[in-house]
Amino acid sequence: MTHPNLLVGTKTSDDAAVYKLSDDLAVVLTVDFFPPIVDDPFIFGQIAAANSLSDVYAMGAKPIAALNVVGFPSDLDMSILGEILKGGASKALEAGIVIAGGHSVVDAEPKYGLSVTGIVNPGSQTANSTSKSGDLLLLTKPIGTGIITTAGKQEKVAAEVLENAVAIMAALNKSASESMISVGVNACSDVTGFGLLGHLREMMEGSGLGARIYKSKVPVIEGTTDLLEQGIAPGGTMRNLDSLKSTVLWDKEISENDKILLSDAQTSGGLLISVNPDKADKLQQSLSEAGTLSNQIIGEVYTPSDTDPTIHVAG
Ligand code: CO
Ligand code: CO
Repeated sequence: MTHPNLLVGTKTSDDAAVYKLSDDLAVVLTVDFFPPIVDDPFIFGQIAAANSLSDVYAMGAKPIAALNVVGFPSDLDMSILGEILKGGASKALEAGIVIAGGHSVVDAEPKYGLSVTGIVNPGSQTANSTSKSGDLLLLTKPIGTGIITTAGKQEKVAAEVLENAVAIMAALNKSASESMISVGVNACSDVTGFGLLGHLREMMEGSGLGARIYKSKVPVIEGTTDLLEQGIAPGGTMRNLDSLKSTVLWDKEISENDKILLSDAQTSGGLLISVNPDKADKLQQSLSEAGTLSNQIIGEVYTPSDTDPTIHVAG
């Protein structure tokens, strides 16, 4: 779809659409919803809302309002839905946005998320397709939530490992986004269903560039590696890995489990930020002061030659 006022649309696999209303105001539009990934309905609501808001934060925009999107079985206790919505409302309060309404349908299993509207100065949005050669890549949350929640469903995970992953998923990307806006960066996307490498690929393909990632520098949630060693890997993660075949060059020291981990489908993951190296220190400091879960530099962006892969994973 193209329209003269549509600044970011469907062409670049970006996190949200950006539509210009006037010379100094654009709206940012996004919707996201999914079935429960944890048992507790309140926490599920929190995670789903944080995940939906994240696409606006990834655009370097300020969310202002949202609508609930709900699927719910007719034979389930309505108090469960009440808890899901309360969880969502608690994150809306924390984000400083208003939930202004919503829509629900009868569905075989519960589903929840938000359609979020944000605002940004037209042209100031951080698209995923505007990375520059020489940029450093920085990640604001550790990865592993797909593997951990899958282990959770199979009751194979220690309570404290799951609780930590839940806290990470429920954390808003608000302060990370505010740091990124104040420092000024070239591109950003949040890491969700396609995993770290899948979203990095979208960024690099959109930008016409290549990236080198250092496995040893990627922050990983405690307990993830143990679960991988037990053979736990979500179906979505394995599909992600499969789809990366022609895109990624793996160094010899990268193990099969490393490949799975870097492809792991995340829920409400961190921001993957492409920043000019001159600003990287300032961004790391700002993120650290804001208390984000990670401010780790994980790789760099380069201009690929014809024979270079889109992504190169080093040890
Ligand atoms: Co996104
Ligand atoms: Co999304």
